[in-house]
Amino acid sequence: MTGSRDSIAAAFDRRATTYDRNDWHVRYAERLVALAAPDPGMRILDAATGTGLAAIAAARATGPTGHVLGVDISVGMLTRARHAVTASGLTTVDLLEADATALPHLPGGSFDLILCSAGLLYLRVQAALREWHRLLKPGGLVGFSTMREGFPAAAGLFRDLAGRYGLALTDPAAPLGTPARCDRELRDAGFVPAGTVTETIRFSRTDLTDAWRAHTQGPHHDAVAALGPERTEKFRAEYTGALARLLNSDEDRVLDSEVIYAFGRAARPEAHAPLPAQLAETERPGHPA
Ligand SMILES: C[S@@+](CC[C@H](N)C(=O)[O-])C[C@H]1O[C@@H](n2cnc3c(N)ncnc32)[C@H](O)[C@@H]1O
Repeated sequence: MTGSRDSIAAAFDRRATTYDRNDWHVRYAERLVALAAPDPGMRILDAATGTGLAAIAAARATGPTGHVLGVDISVGMLTRARHAVTASGLTTVDLLEADATALPHLPGGSFDLILCSAGLLYLRVQAALREWHRLLKPGGLVGFSTMREGFPAAAGLFRDLAGRYGLALTDPAAPLGTPARCDRELRDAGFVPAGTVTETIRFSRTDLTDAWRAHTQGPHHDAVAALGPERTEKFRAEYTGALARLLNSDEDRVLDSEVIYAFGRAARPEAHAPLPAQLAETERPGHPA
């Protein structure tokens, strides 16, 4: 996790109105839901729901007898989520301002499925996974997505150039950045790893117009804010120039990013629930990372 809870919430408040302009956010969240393949009637928690992308996709899958609770700490993101839920016409989604790593008012065993799309890098991973383990019914599934270590390339370029400004930024994707690390975190929290899917997601050139804003208002916000306006502007000009050159010389390297979708079961030893069909044919736990 990088940054304090308040600074993360404030950074996403600032990003909220433009967040859904990045089409890859939508595809990334919807792919997690598709892989988890929720059944009609399921009760689902969408942790760090943001603008509600996964929550809405999950509610469509679970139908009128299902229920989805989306929780987030950013009021700005939740406001966007509320608009999106209203626009969708869905009546089975509730949204709650809360820390997804501590939901003590919710009883254990409340959910069949817990999803966290692109959110775990902002959370204390073990605190989150253990809380979700408590909240899942026995046999329930947790699924999260994360960038593979070193991706996206535009973020690596940002960190490299930040070094010239005295900022030693680490890769926020590193702690969960391989299938083996995802499985280890799941196991440490009491889950039985239930498969990882590693895929490439392609950004559009339009997505990258938002790259500076995403980096400076994301995990590294506090570090960059400390540079002051003049040095920040110099850094911005240097970064956007270098990114444009890299895009022209090696478009695929910039636009293609490897992502991991990881799943775990809160299974009792005697009650292993079957995997969704989408996961049954994919990478198995123990896959070398
Ligand atoms: C990159 S966004 C992902 C949003 C959404 N899940 C998606 O797929 O588009 C990360 C979200 O995590 C939220 N977040 C960060 N820390 C949180 C916490 N402790 N509890 C709940 N939400 C948190 C942020 O406010 C932000 O909306």
